[in-house]
Amino acid sequence: MSHFSYQDGVLCAENTPLAQIAQQFGSPTYIYSKAALVENFSAYADACKQHGRNDETALVCYSVKSNSNLAVLNLLGKLGSGFDIVSGGELLRVLAAGGSPRKVIFSGVGKSREEMQLALSHDILCFNVESIPELHRLNAVATEMGKKAAVSLRVNPNVDAKTHPYISTGLKDNKFGIAYEDTLTTYRVAAALPNIEVVGIDCHIGSQLLDDAPLLEAVDKLIELIDTLDAEGIHLHHLDIGGGIGINYDNDQPVAVGDYLARLFAKIDAWRKQKHGGAPIKVLFEPGRSIVGNAGILLTEVQYIKHGETKNFAIVDAAMNDLMRPAMYEAWHGVLPVQQRDSAVATYDVVGPVCESGDWLARSRELAIEEGDLLAIMSAGAYGMTMSSNYNTRGRAAEVMVDGDKVHLIRKREAASDLFALESLLP
Ligand code: LLP
Repeated sequence: MSHFSYQDGVLCAENTPLAQIAQQFGSPTYIYSKAALVENFSAYADACKQHGRNDETALVCYSVKSNSNLAVLNLLGKLGSGFDIVSGGELLRVLAAGGSPRKVIFSGVGKSREEMQLALSHDILCFNVESIPELHRLNAVATEMGKKAAVSLRVNPNVDAKTHPYISTGLKDNKFGIAYEDTLTTYRVAAALPNIEVVGIDCHIGSQLLDDAPLLEAVDKLIELIDTLDAEGIHLHHLDIGGGIGINYDNDQPVAVGDYLARLFAKIDAWRKQKHGGAPIKVLFEPGRSIVGNAGILLTEVQYIKHGETKNFAIVDAAMNDLMRPAMYEAWHGVLPVQQRDSAVATYDVVGPVCESGDWLARSRELAIEEGDLLAIMSAGAYGMTMSSNYNTRGRAAEVMVDGDKVHLIRKREAASDLFALESLLP
């Protein structure tokens, strides 16, 4: 069920009219639905429970990069979520939001020494390590600190995720993960390092996957590796399948999270029964988009209607700096008028004020609009605000979270003075 819908011809977030939010907080503004976030997280948590998992045998580590607002992290943390981070900054966000470091896993190909120190000082659950040099650096940092770093190796299973090439990560020529053929040698190196404790294996093959077949194929490959390692005396306690489940942007039909998890757990249970006397292995997930993507929209106001020689433009007050996805991936986002009009429909490109031809949010859309109208850019909750920038010295949008008929400001709109506050003139 969508938590953004028309009620008496007026587009609402839960029970709150979007026009009311624009009046109170201005535009552009990111708007999230609390109910949608809870529902999307629960799809994972409930499926885990349904298949006999508890906190010891399954952990959903929400991927912070998809939407890192403290209120979002705090809400998910309270629901029991762990967190998948890719920087020291994201760890500090999780801590500031009250998240437990014992439920944090640290992914990414380029962890610095300082980031390793920070994560070790908070005893995070696990580092997802992506190369041998990284293993050596982590071992050295842990030794200096008198700690042991829990490690999972990110394996590149060489599975085609069949998604946009920019967000496909599990193929051979991607920078991510350890090549499948090198996995055993890398585990041997890890197991021999004194301040590394090998605990798991992980992969992440890509994002916006509509079908779970590539994920299940990747699991088969991880299972094979776990058994091979077992025979060598390297026993793994967890298997992390990454994130990647897609959402509906444009009549897409992504696999339901519950169905995916049912197939995944069935596969894992059958394997454990056959080869390990039914002993469980902990399963980790790193979902981002499927939790926040459809829980957020970007609200924007039409500044001008411009009739060009070959096209009509709706020039709005949101731009590529607010929502990069169309400019970067030619991503499609639905555009809904906040107030429906009876007037004639025309075809528009919805564009922003930034000085780039690539600054568009939607192309060739049939809309009945006038100057001053509000538009909702749909499915913008994931990789929206987190990828935004200050290009053209544009302050980033405000963020609010709606809970029924209540609206909470969860990030103030940036003022121009905030943008140059860290800069200084020559003496
Ligand atoms: N785990 C790792 C290691 C990842 O790299 C990612 C996303 C996730 C989990 C979460 O994946 P999700 O469940 O959200 O698919 N900016 C792009 C998406 C980049 C995804 C990067 N990695 C976009 O706007 O489509």
